[in-house]
Amino acid sequence: MNVQTPHTADATTVEEGLAIQQAQSKFDSEAATALAMQNTLLTPRFYTTDFAELDAIDVSPVRADWDKLMEQMRNDPNKGHFRKTEDWDHVDWEGMEPELKAELLDFLISSCTAEFSGCVLYKEMKRRGTNEDIKELFSYMSRDEARHAGFINDALREAGVAVNLGFLTREKKYTYFRPKFIYYATYLSEKIGYARYITIYRHLEANPEHRFHPIFKWFKEWCNDEFSHGEAFALLMRTDPKITQSFANKLWIRFFLTAVFSTMWVRDHARPKFHEALGVDIDWYDMEVFRKTSEIARQVFPVELDLDNPRFINGCRAMERAVRQMDAAKARGGVSGMMGRAAAGAKAAAAFVSLYTMPVKKNAVPDDVRLEPAY
Ligand SMILES: [Fe+2]
Ligand SMILES: [Fe+2]
Repeated sequence: MNVQTPHTADATTVEEGLAIQQAQSKFDSEAATALAMQNTLLTPRFYTTDFAELDAIDVSPVRADWDKLMEQMRNDPNKGHFRKTEDWDHVDWEGMEPELKAELLDFLISSCTAEFSGCVLYKEMKRRGTNEDIKELFSYMSRDEARHAGFINDALREAGVAVNLGFLTREKKYTYFRPKFIYYATYLSEKIGYARYITIYRHLEANPEHRFHPIFKWFKEWCNDEFSHGEAFALLMRTDPKITQSFANKLWIRFFLTAVFSTMWVRDHARPKFHEALGVDIDWYDMEVFRKTSEIARQVFPVELDLDNPRFINGCRAMERAVRQMDAAKARGGVSGMMGRAAAGAKAAAAFVSLYTMPVKKNAVPDDVRLEPAY
């Protein structure tokens, strides 16, 4: 590899990272970009919010923790990490079993879209901000997410299917969320990202024969970035007790926990070959990620889902069956397809209600909000 070529791994700003990606975009794939463009319940979305409200946050109540976190992000421990090195083993895309290849590509494209979704949201906040604290935080987070998305795109480019990130920024539909919903959803997705990456990393550390793609070797440093991003949202939520403690907001937190966990369950269970190749039982893996995420989220959420209540796993399974039925009905088409879709939609809604109305565990949040990655 020519070391002189600028690489997103070394980009110190999000703008620089995206320009490097854009320069390579002539090689990008329409099929992969089309997949990333999809907006279904299960595909990663792009978000926009009330940036002025976010910009008005005063971080004084958490100043000491804030300054420590900013110093850590300013020092940029992962600069240069997200690039292929001699540790990057050759991937035999041609020889790969077609179903595994399809699921791996789906995993990479959806991960790239999710990383990039964070990147565009954080970049927009950085661009529109006037509050120095907020601008600084969002410049570091967007820088990191541009590197993550860029690195996944490097992996995809080897298979000839990279995502055109510039096109996605311009053309993908943006979903509006009020700032507090952005906090809940983004906090959860950062912490779940950490839990997912570290669980796979530790599993492959113990079972290296299952490491069928080199990108998993990068997950340890990667998950630390996501952990810090989650910490930043925990601090933002701690600036105002109402955000997590009011009656209505507790219901919203339950809603987001239910939606994010059940979506992850359905998405992962749609990739059986991928998890088989990793040597991972999907039920075990998802429950493990939910447990880690729930434990971490005690730093800020006053409620958590009762994962040991059998209604939880039964609800997730019912949701998964309903989504499968919906896909089958969609594929069938016609009147029978339409009726099938309605029936499956009702089943999915019933499964969601059952999960949402499960008794939650209450949690007294600690005085000291900050955590260090511990898994
Ligand atoms: Fe990321
Ligand atoms: Fe992140």
